[in-house]
Amino acid sequence: MTEVLEPGILKGVASTTVNKLLKAGFTTVKAIAVTPAREIADVAGMGSDTALKVCRLARMHVDPGFIPALEVLEMRKSMLKCTTSSSELDRIFGGGVETGSITELIGEFGSGKTQICFTLSVNAQLSKEEGGLGGNVCAIDTEGTFMPERVMQIAQEKGLDAEKILEGILVARAYNSEHQAILISSLPELVERSNIKLVIVDSMIGHFRGEYIGRANLSMRQQKLASCLSHLLRVAEAFNVAIVLTNQVLATPDTMYGDPNKPTGGHVMAHACTHRVFLRKGKQNTRLARVIDSPSLPEERIRFAITGAGIVDAEE
Ligand SMILES: Nc1ncnc2c1ncn2[C@@H]1O[C@H](COP(=O)(O)OP(=O)(O)O)[C@@H](O)[C@H]1O
Ligand SMILES: [Mg+2]
Repeated sequence: MTEVLEPGILKGVASTTVNKLLKAGFTTVKAIAVTPAREIADVAGMGSDTALKVCRLARMHVDPGFIPALEVLEMRKSMLKCTTSSSELDRIFGGGVETGSITELIGEFGSGKTQICFTLSVNAQLSKEEGGLGGNVCAIDTEGTFMPERVMQIAQEKGLDAEKILEGILVARAYNSEHQAILISSLPELVERSNIKLVIVDSMIGHFRGEYIGRANLSMRQQKLASCLSHLLRVAEAFNVAIVLTNQVLATPDTMYGDPNKPTGGHVMAHACTHRVFLRKGKQNTRLARVIDSPSLPEERIRFAITGAGIVDAEE
């Protein structure tokens, strides 16, 4: 339930405090409930005790704590799956890209990560019956690779109203990791206000890797990355949104066994992402995809293709 934040709704919280929260962009009770108290204190400029109290009250409002398992089942039924337009790719995702969790696309340059994101940005706006999520899309572009013309082409090839599709995608260019973190922490408000059902961060790691260089900075980098990822996970769960992140690979030439290309971001990325898919270039326009680290899906290699219409099944 979306409760608009207004004086009196949180018992015992002064209206001056509520006004500070509103000014800082917390327009709903839920937005407060999913934000750490420390951050509320910083952003809204209030003492940590007040922030803690506000946070606790907001959480009680939206989350009564334990709920019957039957309700958990109902909640899981509300999970939606967005088609990638490739039935093979959908299959290894367990039916499509899921809401409520984070999906990670891993691969070298040109492996199709951004093209999958573009295709999903179009498909997410389709109705649930058509394999979409029936909502809008938010894209955080860290590499300057978001191309509206290409999204338009994909939409047109699918016979959709391309302008309407572009209107349904809110894009922000993140110029550095700090900026990226700010954009991510603004998501709870945006997601509620604009009926966002898919959030894309392409790429999640690029800025972090570029800015925190060397062993000495690694733990700081991982801490900041973990904080961004936990925000994203909360958005996914609290608002039943699909989150898609892209990640590069790092060649580890000293690998004796297995694939020498490892996803970047270490354990922090590995823990946060429920579904991790490895992408590789194949012959011509085809690509290979493989699920890694999945608790429920087999490690299977499939093929898909990239065409004018975006992602499609590869021809036999
Ligand atoms: N309009 C198009 N028609 C067909 N293939 C395309 C089109 N646009 C891009 N591609 C393919 O997508 C590839 C780039 O994939 P991309 O998703 O941008 O890679 P990355 O994994 O680096 O994000 C190109 O090399 C090309 O093969
Ligand atoms: Mg890309």
